[in-house]
Amino acid sequence: MSLRFCNSHSLYHLLLVLVIFCSISTIYAEANEDPTIRTMEAFSGYPIHESNSFVTNLASSLSVDTETLQKRIDELSTFSDTPAPSVTRVLYTENDVLARSYIKNLMGLSGLSVREDAVGNIFGRWIGNEAELAPVATGSHIDAIPYSGKYDGVVGVLGAIEAINVLKRSGFKPRRSLEVIMFTSEEPTRYGISCLGSRLLAGIESLAKDLTSTVDGQNISFLDAARSAGYAKEPNDLSSVFLKKGSYSAFVELHIEQGPILEEEGTSIGIVTAIAAPASIKVDFEGNGGHAGAVLMPNRNDAGLAAAELALAVEKHVLESGSIDTVGTVGILELHPGAINSIPSKSHLEIDTRDIDEKRRNSVIEKIHQSAITIAKNRGVTLSEFKIVNQDPPALSEKSIIEAVEAASKELNLTHKFMISRAYHDSLFMARYR
Ligand SMILES: *[C@@H]1O[C@H](CO)[C@@H](O)[C@H](O)[C@H]1NC(C)=O
Ligand SMILES: *[C@@H]1O[C@H](CO)[C@@H](O)[C@H](O)[C@H]1NC(C)=O
Ligand SMILES: [Zn+2]
Repeated sequence: MSLRFCNSHSLYHLLLVLVIFCSISTIYAEANEDPTIRTMEAFSGYPIHESNSFVTNLASSLSVDTETLQKRIDELSTFSDTPAPSVTRVLYTENDVLARSYIKNLMGLSGLSVREDAVGNIFGRWIGNEAELAPVATGSHIDAIPYSGKYDGVVGVLGAIEAINVLKRSGFKPRRSLEVIMFTSEEPTRYGISCLGSRLLAGIESLAKDLTSTVDGQNISFLDAARSAGYAKEPNDLSSVFLKKGSYSAFVELHIEQGPILEEEGTSIGIVTAIAAPASIKVDFEGNGGHAGAVLMPNRNDAGLAAAELALAVEKHVLESGSIDTVGTVGILELHPGAINSIPSKSHLEIDTRDIDEKRRNSVIEKIHQSAITIAKNRGVTLSEFKIVNQDPPALSEKSIIEAVEAASKELNLTHKFMISRAYHDSLFMARYR
């Protein structure tokens, strides 16, 4: 779940997520009076600061047109359902469709040949001298969760287009084709599925099937929404999105860090060596409920307390894993009926766990499951659901790409460090082509 609360407003620090790679920018702190900024801060947990400055110190023999790039980032941010400086751009809405046109137009201006698939992944290809070779691709997403910032994902798409422009201006002619990819719906905002476009590219058949019956919070089906945006014209044709293995020789993603580390250290480039593998779990407990005054303590089976106990168990199992890389979060905890004078008869938790070590993460999940069973038994409640919604494998960056990014950082005198990416990225799924 890429709840990417990215609200960075200046691009000093780039994180390169690899196989993949990714890049990071940065977050600026300052208390703010503007209600939009306050809302963004509340959503993100980070302070927001509007800054006009862009990367001005990217010394390079190739010259990046930072002014134009910044102008385009600013322009794209105006396709938003909430006021500036926040950006809200949800899959297949009017603003998403406008933003897609904007991207396709820029790809065209850069002389790329543009293709879209049935869910709206957009590909802009610069055909190389040896067009039969698997291309090198780069890209990211432009959809934006409510009240996010203008750099999340966008840097990896507009930055990639500018990188192509830089190479073209320099007179470079690629041997392999180079491709910019804009992935559909990296954010789970509308249909609850993160990295929807890249998951489908990775050929996940169950997803292609599920999407034909998936609806959003307004009961609008995925297929209807896709059609209204000009996609999914053939019924049930979503498997047409799947890519063949070997479709790309390498993939690199530039992304903002979405964390404070690079900025705090003043480091410019984070070179991602692995993407932590997320898993999410839904849990329901059911008890008898009852009146908060009438039912005495020994006679209760409180579904709310079972949930509270499980939340603490999640923390305990994660901490006991012995690795700083294991994390677990109970981000949703709902009680039913949710009245002050009513003993909760039902509770619902959603748990997110991540690790770079899949085995260790899965063992934490197993312990959480055992705890849920024990807690239900001890409290006399029913564990009516324990569902592992997704359990994605982690991705390790390719050594040669890590080395290439390191070498480039050195050549450009950019401070850099190796990092683990702990957010979802489309790279996680692009890594499956190897
Ligand atoms: C959602 O839409 C479908 C098809 O239009 C309809 O059959 C169903 O009753 C709707 N569900 C809700 C909760 O409105
Ligand atoms: C990096 O630093 C070295 C040594 O100070 C210098 O010679 C070189 O020109 C710098 N390179 C760039 C791209 O700024
Ligand atoms: Zn993102």
